[in-house]
Amino acid sequence: MKTTVRKTGVLLFCLLLPLCLMLGGCAAETPSTAADTTAAATADTTVDAPAPASEILLQIGRPTLLADGVEKAIDSEGTAPRIIGGRTLLPVRAVVEAMGGTVDWNGTRREVTLRCGETELKLYIDRTDVYRNGEKTVLDTAPIILGGRTMLPIRAIAESFGFTVEWAPETQTVTLKREQAAVPGAKEIRLTVGDRAFAVEPADTAAAKNLIALLSAGDIPLDLSDYGGFEKVGDLPAALPADDVQTTTAPGDVVLYQGDKIVVFYGENTWSYTRLGRIKDVTADDLKAVLGTGDVTAVLSAKDLPAPAGKTSAVVFFSCTNNTRSLAEKIAAAADADLLEILPREPYTAADLNYNGDCRANREQNDESARPAIASEFENIDAYDTIYLGYPIWWGTMPKIINTFLETYDLSGKTVIPFCTSGSSGISQSVRAIRAYLPQVKDGMRGTASTPESDILAFVENNK
Ligand SMILES: Cc1cc2nc3c(=O)[nH]c(=O)nc-3n(C[C@H](O)[C@H](O)[C@H](O)COP(=O)(O)O)c2cc1C
Repeated sequence: MKTTVRKTGVLLFCLLLPLCLMLGGCAAETPSTAADTTAAATADTTVDAPAPASEILLQIGRPTLLADGVEKAIDSEGTAPRIIGGRTLLPVRAVVEAMGGTVDWNGTRREVTLRCGETELKLYIDRTDVYRNGEKTVLDTAPIILGGRTMLPIRAIAESFGFTVEWAPETQTVTLKREQAAVPGAKEIRLTVGDRAFAVEPADTAAAKNLIALLSAGDIPLDLSDYGGFEKVGDLPAALPADDVQTTTAPGDVVLYQGDKIVVFYGENTWSYTRLGRIKDVTADDLKAVLGTGDVTAVLSAKDLPAPAGKTSAVVFFSCTNNTRSLAEKIAAAADADLLEILPREPYTAADLNYNGDCRANREQNDESARPAIASEFENIDAYDTIYLGYPIWWGTMPKIINTFLETYDLSGKTVIPFCTSGSSGISQSVRAIRAYLPQVKDGMRGTASTPESDILAFVENNK
């Protein structure tokens, strides 16, 4: 890490961060109680990997939920959602699993950890502080233990996991819908093998739609094994809704097998599958040559297709731990803009971001020539007049992948409005760096995942 160029914000960040971590750690140390044992038992039920649902319906007083129309018990005790302090609370395991997430309970800390996609939420019994990927926000209703059941506020959880929440007072129904905002217009699936990226036209099946929804949370690396001399098969990270029918495949077909495996065909077979899509513009020989003869690694990603006509603004963002994503989503809503994500070809792991050591992010920031590759492609970027460009601050400035973006796309005639999230550093150093590419760039805004809506509206208004 370079020590010469750190600015005040970076120093503040370095000083404050360990303190925040210390405080966060201390706060989580609450003594265990008898209630925890019951709650732990409640939280430890194991169920099969669920298919991520797009719509989940809950009703006050009703002990079941509907996940994409399929009825499931909320828990084994017949517990129903209740309104407490003006919020709907319920045992959330079944809901989170229906979303494709997981639930863990730590009785000593009275801590519930929920994970869905790349988002981790930590909530505590009888406490209103909640940690979203380590960043603290405050709930208006604390989780509680009621009759031995751990009851959590569903709105805050669902919104953190990218679901919209609708309340219908006449039927006392809560509808959670997976937000499609991160997927403007249509998406195409992309299968990358080595240097070769294949465009996969999605099939019109629930499985393909759910795969795209999964991919909007991040790329999926695949270990594909060769089978039968006609296909490559690999595990998906979550089951998808299967609607298997007897299918004769052709080279280029991509299908779901046994609910949680993806199969890419370079030859033919007849079996019971659910279609996921079809690789476009490829011959059997070409495919066979790229996929090779043995096992192979590949990456699945989602690629934006041209934006629907009419939108003139886009929010283009890069985010590793979802703070910038959260701000980007709010800016896109306020500005009526499309949301486009800069996905790194090689996703950043937690170790890659551990800036206390010699991590990948630090090495890139210290290397003037580093230009991490971008997996996403924004073929329609010319259609936008205004680009909001969002990123986290890394060592006082923007991550090097933003340089890659600025050197890949010509934004010269456009209004470019930067925004960032950070521990404490401001945006100005990164704006100077962007100005070297684009003299017209605006001064931008530093925010956080919880920047108030009023500030966001003012930011959008002031930059019109
Ligand atoms: C490698 C690295 C360097 C960072 N450097 C700074 C910094 O200089 N100043 C700061 O305030 N925050 C710094 N942060 C914290 C991030 O800017 C902050 O957590 C940001 O909100 C993360 O955004 P994301 O969740 O969208 O990835 C750094 C984080 C990482 C991983």
